[in-house]
Amino acid sequence: MGIPKTLLLVIAVITFSVIIISFSVRQTGDGEVVFSVPKGWPKPAYNFKINPVTQDGFKLGRRLFFDPVLSRDSSISCNSCHTQFSAFTHVDHPVSHGINGLKGTRNASTIFNMAWNTSFMWDGRVKTLAEQPVNPITNPVEMDNTMENIVSKLNQSATYKEDFKKAFGNTTISSQQVLNALAQFLVSLQSYNTKYDKVIAQKSKDIRFTEDEKEGLQIFRNHCAQCHKEPLFTDNRFKNIGLTVIPFYNDYGRMLITHDPKDSLLFRVPSLRNVAASYPYMHDGRFNTLEEVIDHYRSGVVQSPTLAPELRQPLIIDNKQKAQLIAFLNTLTDDEFLYDLRFRNWVR
Ligand code: HEC
Ligand code: HEC
Repeated sequence: MGIPKTLLLVIAVITFSVIIISFSVRQTGDGEVVFSVPKGWPKPAYNFKINPVTQDGFKLGRRLFFDPVLSRDSSISCNSCHTQFSAFTHVDHPVSHGINGLKGTRNASTIFNMAWNTSFMWDGRVKTLAEQPVNPITNPVEMDNTMENIVSKLNQSATYKEDFKKAFGNTTISSQQVLNALAQFLVSLQSYNTKYDKVIAQKSKDIRFTEDEKEGLQIFRNHCAQCHKEPLFTDNRFKNIGLTVIPFYNDYGRMLITHDPKDSLLFRVPSLRNVAASYPYMHDGRFNTLEEVIDHYRSGVVQSPTLAPELRQPLIIDNKQKAQLIAFLNTLTDDEFLYDLRFRNWVR
């Protein structure tokens, strides 16, 4: 009877090692990232030929994203303003706070499904994901640094040199490589595992909308989906939704970039995926709750020549329907994404 015992022991050892290995893979955040286009989604805008995503590039981008070395006095990282549990925005204040506690004028954007963005920032002033990080890095109220300074600091680090070599194959770090690595991390932040997605894909009979969520989806499709278009919950266009201008900020949105008066007060339609986790809301974080947002659409819209035609009539829904709409918006939270260990800060 010796053989079965040995066999049992072997099986036990194998099982045990498999558990340990899979545990440690998860614990070090080494899970592979594979970019995929979910079924029924449009073609991404990101150019994978120019800057393809590799595991080493992703990991390097992640290291940079969490590293305060990118700011002038090494006090602020990208993650200071973009934290994972709130869909990579920050929830503690309406407008962002950067170096020396200096305040910006805008609410940090959420970061996910960036491959489908046709422009970046609330006013669309950035065209590609690889150009995007230059903005916070050089902004005097954000990281207040220069690319030259970062590249020279990184070139003094043996471990960064090793990581850049793995990702890009050469030993001298360039600013384009820093930006490309960050872009590879950013584009890998994909979110498509919400209850909404599971119900739409009819993955399992056990996952169904409640009656309220179902009603909420209908209300959403009647009044919101023209701009917050499924499945991305944005159409990437710019719209004026009739918010009052806050005198101190004087933020006229898209017009600041195009200088065209027709673009006055237009802002990029934000995705509503993970919206329950990414308060406060709007380009300046003026609303703290989804209730306030819906009340804006019901009774707060300010008429003006550039107001979106879709919002010329106020939204007429009663309080029960408002609650149903919010119940639906809550199905857009993707916990698998918000707590995905691969997107955490892993010590090298
Ligand atoms: C001080 C806070 C702060 C820091 C630090 C910061 N950001 Fe941002 N981020 C913002 C704000 C605010 C916006 C929106 C700005 C605007 O629209 O004018 C933004 C927008 C973005 C967007 C645009 C998303 C979209 O959908 O348009 C990306 C991507 C981004 N940041 C990535 C980064 C990266 C990468 C870093 C680090 C290099 C970084 N951010 C550092 C505050 C910050
Ligand atoms: C005409 C297009 C349009 C329609 C219709 C529309 N929205 Fe919006 N929505 C926008 C734009 C543009 C913004 C950003 C405005 C800003 O910050 O200045 C926005 C912002 C939001 C935000 C804040 C998101 C964030 O991350 O800050 C929420 C929530 C929201 N809308 C929900 C809704 C709901 C619910 C409806 C339907 C009742 C709706 N929207 C209808 C264009 C629209």
